Amino acid sequence: MTTLWGGRFEEPPDRVLWDYTVSPTDRRLLADDVVGSLAHVAMLGRVGLLSAEEAEILRRGLETILDEAREGTFRFIDDDEDVHSAVERRLVELVGDVGKKLHTGRSRNDQIAVDERLYLRRAASEQVERLGRFGLMLVSLAEENTEVVVPVYTHLQQAQPIPLAHHLLAYAWMVSRDRQRFQQVRERLAVSPLGAGAGGGSSLPLDPVFCARELGFDVVFGNSIDAVGSRDLVTEYVWCCAQAMVHLSRLSEELILWASSEFGWVTFGDRYTTGSSALPQKKNPDIAELARGRSAGTIGDLTALLALQKGLPLAYNRDLQEDKEHLFRADDTLAATLEALGGMLSSAEFHPPPPSPWTTALDLAEALVRRGVPFREAHAAVGKLVARLVGSGRELDDATEEDLAAADPRFEPDDLALVDTRGSVERRATSGGGSFESVAEQVTALRHVLTRD
Ligand code: ARG
Repeated sequence: MTTLWGGRFEEPPDRVLWDYTVSPTDRRLLADDVVGSLAHVAMLGRVGLLSAEEAEILRRGLETILDEAREGTFRFIDDDEDVHSAVERRLVELVGDVGKKLHTGRSRNDQIAVDERLYLRRAASEQVERLGRFGLMLVSLAEENTEVVVPVYTHLQQAQPIPLAHHLLAYAWMVSRDRQRFQQVRERLAVSPLGAGAGGGSSLPLDPVFCARELGFDVVFGNSIDAVGSRDLVTEYVWCCAQAMVHLSRLSEELILWASSEFGWVTFGDRYTTGSSALPQKKNPDIAELARGRSAGTIGDLTALLALQKGLPLAYNRDLQEDKEHLFRADDTLAATLEALGGMLSSAEFHPPPPSPWTTALDLAEALVRRGVPFREAHAAVGKLVARLVGSGRELDDATEEDLAAADPRFEPDDLALVDTRGSVERRATSGGGSFESVAEQVTALRHVLTRD
């Protein structure tokens, strides 16, 4: 077994050590690792640590490896301790001993930090894309259902009538912020760790600014220990995933509820639902259930990353190798959930029953407020009316002029007309509130926010 570090050892690594410490997870960073190495080699050539000829040989070798990585033909072997060792091993196979100059002025510690940032910046852009698409799908769904009126709930009790579109757009706003979070972390990620070496820098005349520019980073690290020892940006990225998953989980929970026969609000397409092996009548919203279930794993990934760092002395410790598993899992879970839930939602047909007339109680109180009655008195008057109706087994739309008069003399007979759920939505005046106009404004605003760079 050849390692990058065998010089001071008299015995080869035990199988047990190898199996326990080798990380196949970071193989996913292969192309990023080669891209980082290409910038490093270009820099070594520029500052004279490699001759122009050597730099060119290494560049060509690395380009071959990059092709292999992108075509999926690169072969890892058991002896590869990690992705960095694999690239160096393959480079020496391709170009001979000059390949051994690749690691000049570098450590796997700054190398893995570069690889992760390259991965994260690209992955963040992909999540921005996916979240944008998902948000726009919600906006279209809202637009297709602008006329549908449902109750908004508080305490899971019907509160006021609103357009269903208003409820759907609440999620579109959450998704727009999830998208923005990935845009913001992408900016913070644009700091190059290359040149930090093992943790203290190097005596060689490296040019980290050149490397940063080659790799498209805005600036270079300000402290080499921080550059190789910190993982807060990985945590932040996974938090972005976790928060987005929690939003999707919350949406999923509602979709599951709405698809129940008790709610009867929505039917999903056959292609996006599953059946029961035992109960022939069943049509189950499994995608939403799994989205809700998998958000637990992403919250776990975030928690694991925080715990991973909490007691670590500076700078690099091998513990940090474990961050990849959580990062990749969180990233993949969000990507897959957006796709599956997006498909299921776009097949949704909404057919909710109308909200209960009780949801217009506030409209009656506000009629009194418009006549100068203090809100607290108006609230009490409607409360009295409600108690009277409930006491005689009636609904709010069963109220008569006598009921109004008995509750408060300041009611007028015309107030009976306020007990209409659609009318309540039409009277709603608050901008951003649950009105048809507000929904139209939100659709325009969200189309902009969800496509903004
Ligand atoms: N595979 C390691 C990781 O993922 C990178 C190499 C760390 N450096 C070391 N000296 N073992 O964090």
